[in-house]
Amino acid sequence: MMTATSPRYRVEGGSALRGSVRTSGSKNAALAAMCASLLTDEDIILENVPDISDVHSVRRLLENLGTTVRDLSDGSICLNSASISTFETPTALITENRASFQVTGPLLGRFGWASSAPPGGDAIGQRPIDVHLGGFASMGATVEQVEDRWVARAPDGPGSLRGARIFMDYASVTGTQNVLMAAVLARGQVAIVNAATEPEVSDLANLLAAMGAKISGVGSQILEVDGVESLHGARVRIMPDRIEAGTFAIAAAVTAGEIEILEAPVHVMDALIAKLRACGAGVDATPGRLVVSGPSQLRAVSFQALPYPGLATDLHSPMAAMLTQAQGVSIIHERVFDNRMLYVGELRKMGAEIVSTGSSAIVLGPTKLHGARVRALDVRAGAAVLLAALAATGTTTIEEVSHLDRGYEALEEKLRELGAGIERN
Ligand code: EPU
Repeated sequence: MMTATSPRYRVEGGSALRGSVRTSGSKNAALAAMCASLLTDEDIILENVPDISDVHSVRRLLENLGTTVRDLSDGSICLNSASISTFETPTALITENRASFQVTGPLLGRFGWASSAPPGGDAIGQRPIDVHLGGFASMGATVEQVEDRWVARAPDGPGSLRGARIFMDYASVTGTQNVLMAAVLARGQVAIVNAATEPEVSDLANLLAAMGAKISGVGSQILEVDGVESLHGARVRIMPDRIEAGTFAIAAAVTAGEIEILEAPVHVMDALIAKLRACGAGVDATPGRLVVSGPSQLRAVSFQALPYPGLATDLHSPMAAMLTQAQGVSIIHERVFDNRMLYVGELRKMGAEIVSTGSSAIVLGPTKLHGARVRALDVRAGAAVLLAALAATGTTTIEEVSHLDRGYEALEEKLRELGAGIERN
């Protein structure tokens, strides 16, 4: 929740960013993996979990349900859900973000009961949960709304969800993850058709497999699950964050610098790499290492933000900030969320020539950006104004950077290492 006391960034623009940065663990993969720990009474050890506020929030939620969470000396976390004390999520915690609703699938799958208010999350469009609830109902659960909460009950108590063939109306990322987590303990076979193919879904499926789940089709649009009676403990490493790595890649291009991004998951970053090359950026991509350099003049490109393997919607607004510095007209179409254009007004305060028309935006460039007082309206809109501030002349004050804290680990430290002038106050 944003308050008037949310911290600010003061950014001195104009420096080309240079040096090396390490990619942190993926926010969205880590959040789902933490929820998966509810599926077993044994220890789940997760390596490479980023130290960000969304992780802290889901941790508090799990602890509230009865999961014990320990920080291990090697930086990993150990979750144990042997003593779950309630299947009712506290509304104050569930509304802090979107990922939190993913506790309902595992609770329903293992204990046969889950009750929750709808989740929160960034204001980037309608964010319904019909795909999640429809999946639960297809496996035999009774799903009803009781006042402001959704209550789901398996037909015959714990572990009694049934095999089913589920068609998801939309290939929702958290919807696929939530239904998958409910399905792994079902009686019989569950097929999830039109599953999301985002790498974070596969990362979760790999954790579930390490816990003893039987899943085939990982990475495809049809996931087939043979339900098992119980799952056991596991230790896995969370995949690196492709959106964070992408944000640094764009930072190199927009500031005409050169950044080596270590542990970048380049094998799942094709769309961004192709667009950066089309803009004239230098890109050297080898497994686990991405080096991006900005040209003296970027070229305009058009793109659509799409489900994976298309260009990620979470990189739409950072790309738009970069395109303010590109020669020509760029056209952007947002195909995932219906309200992802709020950053446009903030970039305009900095001098950008950008207009939005519904789910599209047109950017004219290059424009000289200048410092201004702007807001980080959500985590990725925040990244957009930050990138614009790095490329601008003068000082930019970014308010509500708690949004950025939700998704970027040690952001100002990493940027300072690369030569950025950035202070938090
Ligand atoms: N949708 C439905 N019905 C549903 C669920 C979703 O119609 O039941 C629609 C939504 O209205 C939206 C589209 O599906 O238009 C995409 O939503 P999706 O459910 O795939 O997104 P999500 O699961 O809520 C996750 C990430 C987002 C990321 C999107 C798309 C997490 C916690 N969040 O959200 O990440 O943008 O997938 O890739 O995994 C972020 O990290 O900043 C972020 C917003």
